Amino acid sequence: MKITNLLEVDQSTQNREAFTTDVLMGLSSEPKTLSAKYFYDDAGSELFQKISQHQDYYLTKTEFSILEQYGAALAATINETEIDIIELGAGDGHKSKLVIDSFLAQGTKVNFYPIDISEKAMGLLGANLAIGDQLHIHGIVADYFHGLNSLKTISNNKKLVLFLGSNIGNFNRAQTQEFLKKLWLALNANDHVLIGYDLKKDSDILNKV
Ligand SMILES: C[S@@+](CC[C@H](N)C(=O)[O-])C[C@H]1O[C@@H](n2cnc3c(N)ncnc32)[C@H](O)[C@@H]1O
Repeated sequence: MKITNLLEVDQSTQNREAFTTDVLMGLSSEPKTLSAKYFYDDAGSELFQKISQHQDYYLTKTEFSILEQYGAALAATINETEIDIIELGAGDGHKSKLVIDSFLAQGTKVNFYPIDISEKAMGLLGANLAIGDQLHIHGIVADYFHGLNSLKTISNNKKLVLFLGSNIGNFNRAQTQEFLKKLWLALNANDHVLIGYDLKKDSDILNKV
């Protein structure tokens, strides 16, 4: 698996300034906030893997069963001979595998581009997915849109962008609108997007101890 680390190229003063501004603004606001992208250093990634395996973390289990149930239908609906699957915040790739396998099973060649800000997560993903004749993997360690924009002209294949794990729930309404707009701008007509949303939940489920 090839990995390109755009963060290494990007350890610029500009980046450190953006971090300082984000922290200052986030922790000065009421309620205090901090962009989820700063949670995922090596320790944060490892913690997320543990959380996602916890019996009370219903998100992973539910999304898994949805992908298991509808993966084949998704691949059949898109129905291409070759596809570029791009995953924003791919994590360890366990869910990606379900989607990728559905395309491979119907004979579609898959070029998989996981994008994740965590180098550690990218390492885990590499260990979980096996490259083959029909599957090529090129991991991009980067922020979502830095990674996505770097892939704009990779091929003429149709793209399927995955944004799973209710990651979108980390954004407020304005950030969500901006995210979706940037996503729309980065893609071509007839590309596809699959977003995993959580539904509104009873606070007893969310606060279960
Ligand atoms: C909640 S986990 C979801 C992982 C996986 N998609 C799943 O559904 O299990 C969020 C993932 O997104 C990555 N991430 C968070 N913010 C990011 C950003 N701004 N750019 C790129 N990756 C990001 C994290 O490193 C982490 O692997």
